[in-house]
Amino acid sequence: MSLKLSDNDAALGKNYDRAAWFYEKSAKFYSTNQIRASKRFQMKYVQPGQSVLYLGAGAGEDAIMAARRGANVTCIDISPGMLDQVRKKLDEDSLSAELICVNAYDHDRIGHYDVVCANYFLNVFRRDDMANMLNHTATFVRDGGKYLIADVALPHGNPAAKAFNLAYLKMAMGTFWMMGLVPWHENYDYPSFFADAGLTHDHTELFRFAKKGPVLFQSIAATK
Ligand SMILES: C[S@@+](CC[C@H](N)C(=O)[O-])C[C@H]1O[C@@H](n2cnc3c(N)ncnc32)[C@H](O)[C@@H]1O
Repeated sequence: MSLKLSDNDAALGKNYDRAAWFYEKSAKFYSTNQIRASKRFQMKYVQPGQSVLYLGAGAGEDAIMAARRGANVTCIDISPGMLDQVRKKLDEDSLSAELICVNAYDHDRIGHYDVVCANYFLNVFRRDDMANMLNHTATFVRDGGKYLIADVALPHGNPAAKAFNLAYLKMAMGTFWMMGLVPWHENYDYPSFFADAGLTHDHTELFRFAKKGPVLFQSIAATK
């Protein structure tokens, strides 16, 4: 793993290090496995031999899916503890990937990747920072390549379904906020930011609580 962090980044990384061992297990439980499903949906856009970047890769269940498909995977994350979890999974499956411990703002491989995945990553920033991060990281995609986002969804459906979405996702954000992982912020309509980032919206797939309940998560595909 290569490591390039400023002191501020290292402090934020330490907060995420504390969550590294339980992050995916708890996400599986509270999302009724729909967070994983929203990432698995992206595999239709990932082909063997393509270079695929995971931004804020976390414990890397999605990066492992892409590596199993034969993609050349790069994971970047501000937390060494999260990348250790990715390393363990890679070793268990005798897979390989490039792991870089860096603030995604400091990654600078312009036009380098066929696919860039921002999964439950842009949602850790306040609105302006999120837009800057989206604009910056969209430059990593080659022309014609894909920018994929799996993340929480805005409320959909009838008033009860919308209320469930709001209460549920604010409760999840509140937990992360108390752990010092995210600032308090609204959830985002990502496609409305795509024009500024040079992206064209292709598709949004919605994921429901326990498959049939209110919409909570989404998987968005865009082309550079
Ligand atoms: C909410 S977690 C999502 C992890 C993973 N993508 C997933 O879907 O499970 C956000 C991740 O982004 C990382 N992160 C936060 N700010 C970052 C930054 N500026 N640069 C790189 N990684 C960052 C955190 O360490 C954490 O692993």
